[in-house]
Amino acid sequence: MQEELNLTSEYWSARYQSGQTGWDAGAVTTPLKSYIDQLEDKEIKILIPGGGNGYEAEYLHRNGFSKVHLLDFASEPLQNFASRVPDFPKEHLLQKDFFDMENEQYDLVLEQTFFCALPRGWRSNYARQVFQVLKPNGKLAGVLFSTEFDRQGPPFGGSAFEYQAYFEPYFHFRHFEPCYNSIEPRQGREIFMVLQRKERPQFMA
Ligand SMILES: C[S@@+](CC[C@H](N)C(=O)[O-])C[C@H]1O[C@@H](n2cnc3c(N)ncnc32)[C@H](O)[C@@H]1O
Repeated sequence: MQEELNLTSEYWSARYQSGQTGWDAGAVTTPLKSYIDQLEDKEIKILIPGGGNGYEAEYLHRNGFSKVHLLDFASEPLQNFASRVPDFPKEHLLQKDFFDMENEQYDLVLEQTFFCALPRGWRSNYARQVFQVLKPNGKLAGVLFSTEFDRQGPPFGGSAFEYQAYFEPYFHFRHFEPCYNSIEPRQGREIFMVLQRKERPQFMA
């Protein structure tokens, strides 16, 4: 089973080195751009985990957001990013495992093709970890695939119904709907979400 692949930083580095980066849109994607364009406060602290080549981080940076952090545990995309955007603060490029982050308090986490790159069994951990790195009332915004894929992953697909179970203990659902402005290859296959962190996790009895 492909899901038993060890999805380590070495696995992802090898994908970047061999150019097997089919997920890479090459530019900020329309759903993320539209969401960013309506953000008014440019001082908010933003994290983009599993952010790869970081086109969203570049777009935020070029539009005056000063507290953007791009995180990836593979070095290659961060090096690509540093070459492409040399005036981005180096200390905001975080080469580390997202699940090792502690005591970080962000206002906003942006999601795009990171959740689907994780083994399915980590999905609850992802929801909990995003909760942990967000400030109270902080938001998780971005896109999730709402389809299963023919080929074995990554990416690993799923459904809105399935995902709700992971996020409900930790977040209020402000928006969780089919995405109307996906990039062409992903049209009809994404959910756009804006989830707001709960004060504390709430598990059903
Ligand atoms: C499918 S790529 C998506 C990259 C980017 N979000 C995009 O849209 O182009 C998944 C990324 O997540 C990174 N990644 C996977 N697991 C990670 C982890 N536990 N911590 C940090 N980065 C991780 C990989 O190195 C890879 O760059």
